[in-house]
Amino acid sequence: MSSGQRDAGVSNPAHVAIIMDGNGRWAQMRGLPRQEGHRRGLDALRRTVRNASDLGIQVLTLYSFSTENWRRPYAEVSFLMGLLKHFVEKDLAELSAANVRVRIIGSRDDLAADLRRLVEHAETSTRANTGLVLVIAFNYGSRDEIMRATRRLAADAVAGRIDPAAIDEAAIARQLDTHDLPDPELVIRTSGETRISNFLLWQAAYAEFIFAPVMWPDFDRAAFEDALAQYRQRDRRFGGLSAPSDRSVGVA
Ligand code: FPP
Repeated sequence: MSSGQRDAGVSNPAHVAIIMDGNGRWAQMRGLPRQEGHRRGLDALRRTVRNASDLGIQVLTLYSFSTENWRRPYAEVSFLMGLLKHFVEKDLAELSAANVRVRIIGSRDDLAADLRRLVEHAETSTRANTGLVLVIAFNYGSRDEIMRATRRLAADAVAGRIDPAAIDEAAIARQLDTHDLPDPELVIRTSGETRISNFLLWQAAYAEFIFAPVMWPDFDRAAFEDALAQYRQRDRRFGGLSAPSDRSVGVA
């Protein structure tokens, strides 16, 4: 089978996850404050949500604030908190009218009560929508998520609600923040950095990774389509074998 034949039937991923990196450098390159980079990053986020819907993506996960981002100066942390609040308050009606379902993943414990209420409202008020699922990873860290899941399983085991021997991959996945979402097939990171930075470590076990040089505020339709085109060229084997020609050399 030629690679052309193999690519012919490959469709877009159902779930795309993005590490939106480079806001600060985008601003710095223009002599602007970092906050302006984040503001323009929010414009890029809005554009990407529209493009994802348009391109038939079913789930879009965006890494908006990591558990490590608390180490940034207080002013930047509170600006990012304010940006999430502003986004939900200003865009929720429009998102809902576009049939978008909003999900927020990450720990809510450290969020201010008003922000917590707002994200809960965003989720409940869009629960019945059937279009794009927009997942905002906020105060999210994969190790933190796995730790919280492990604590719940351990508590269930101690209470006798679950037999430790019955804890399999599905039981762990059910405890993750993403329990109701499919795994991402594609993870994009902008800004040219080539790290995963504690993002969806469990869920991205078999994802394809694309590291795009563009800074996040400049991520546009062309950059999105380019990443999807690269994805469609990839040969996904999930540890198995694909093309018959691969078998003779035992490619895993
Ligand atoms: C990484 O760029 C980006 C972030 C830590 C925040 C991402 C936020 C947005 C895209 C704006 C929308 C926000 C919300 C909350 C909805 P960086 O600041 O680390 O860039 P740098 O590596 O160039 O400094």
